[in-house]
Amino acid sequence: LKVLSVASEAVPLVKTGGLADVVGALPAALASHDVEVTTLLPGFPAVMKSIRKGRKIAEFESLLGEPARVVSARLDDGRKLLVLDAPAYFTREGGPYGDGSGADWNDNWRRFAALGNAAARLAGVGGKKGKFDLVHAHDWQAAMAPVYLRFGGHPVPSVLTIHNMAFQGYFGAEVFPRLGLPDSAWTMQGVEFHGGVGMLKGGMVCADAITTVSPTYAREIHTPAFGMGLDGVIRARTNLVQGILNGIDTAEWNPETDQHLAAHFSPQKLGKRKANKSAVEKAFGLETGDGPLFIVVSRLTWQKGIDVLLEVIDHLVGLGGRLALLGSGEPELEQGLKEAAERHPGKVGLKFAYDEPLSHLMQGGGDAILVPSRFEPCGLTQLYGLAYGCIPVVARTGGLADTVIDANPAAMAEKSATGVVFAQASYDELALAISRTIRLFDDPPAWRRLQRCAMRADFGWSASAAQYAGLYRRLVEAAKWA
Ligand code: ADP
Ligand code: GLC
Repeated sequence: LKVLSVASEAVPLVKTGGLADVVGALPAALASHDVEVTTLLPGFPAVMKSIRKGRKIAEFESLLGEPARVVSARLDDGRKLLVLDAPAYFTREGGPYGDGSGADWNDNWRRFAALGNAAARLAGVGGKKGKFDLVHAHDWQAAMAPVYLRFGGHPVPSVLTIHNMAFQGYFGAEVFPRLGLPDSAWTMQGVEFHGGVGMLKGGMVCADAITTVSPTYAREIHTPAFGMGLDGVIRARTNLVQGILNGIDTAEWNPETDQHLAAHFSPQKLGKRKANKSAVEKAFGLETGDGPLFIVVSRLTWQKGIDVLLEVIDHLVGLGGRLALLGSGEPELEQGLKEAAERHPGKVGLKFAYDEPLSHLMQGGGDAILVPSRFEPCGLTQLYGLAYGCIPVVARTGGLADTVIDANPAAMAEKSATGVVFAQASYDELALAISRTIRLFDDPPAWRRLQRCAMRADFGWSASAAQYAGLYRRLVEAAKWA
């Protein structure tokens, strides 16, 4: 089975969040299911740089008004890649979505419609090199692929995966005439949404299946509280909606081989984590101490509950805990964190940066990772925490609820607990969870048991890859009879 996976990010080339980890890991995860995944990415400068020996496989005189070509390339590790080389859209300084100052590019509607359009044309053409059995689009940036397939009359089935319902690619009605779609796409069955163009919405109504990245989030997005205005569309298509949990790339994230660690360790050799803990303390200018070292690796936003974290820092330090936080995001949250660090020198350390190696070291040296999200489609940092014995302390929502088993007395007794789960991102709940975590930490045999169970939990891709492969096959089979 040949699948074209379309996304705006993939490790190791472009990453702003978990989307990149997942898109980067899918091809290897699916290979053992006889599914050949080729990833189509925009030709951002960092991507173009890494494909020195690309070969042109398609050329578009006009891709929504600009010339473009598709280049096929292999990365050093052998991974196959297609790159949409369209300088007018993607050759610019800054991040993938904006100029780096926080403002989005004002032509994002065109840049990502072009990505979806190219995907549909590649998959729709057929022929030896352009042939794909199915298109798998990720998030709003790729969601126009199913729309162009449907309205272009291409009989190729498609899957849309929603990694985060909060980002919908919603634009004014004035862009519609420039999308190259027939008037029939300006309806409920197309991209029209509350008088504007909804790209995620369009993908949701045109794709043959909608998946999201955990079973709990799949349920949550049926409700107004989590659906962000699209819950009605989800309810209308509920029999096509499925939650498939993300896994982690266990080659990249393995405490026995991770090149970013100061010392390697395993469930049997937890003592070696000490060297990593010291390295983290040093990196963040923290005092050493007997209490637990909490870490946070996160975008600093409302979704992630960082404002709630701010409120509990005094409580955490008061109980003997220390905190190392790596993240970047909203300036007000950064300001609040700075003030907390000034109140607690040596106890609270901050780095406002994006630092992949340091994130690995923190998972290997931290005692517990705090994830107080208000909503979390899946979440990956708690999975890295499990793999590295950095105990996840998480709100019971989305993928956090599906991946961490609370250390209640029953779960501790039967050795199934892997972390601490609290009801929701509020001061009381998070403060109580931190108190519970510290009590567990103060009982070393219990804590080691928790770490070992966490490290042995199933956070790999195998079960989920089988679900994707099964879904692809069902859709390809159904398309044959359509
Ligand atoms: P989201 O995609 O919503 O941000 P996830 O938990 O799914 O949340 O994925 C976040 C990914 O980004 C993880 O791989 C995490 O380690 C990484 N990450 C987040 N912030 C940083 C940072 N400041 N430095 C390095 N890695 C980060
Ligand atoms: C999104 C979500 C996150 C999820 C990631 C990968 O960024 O916010 O919860 O883990 O996508 O699917």
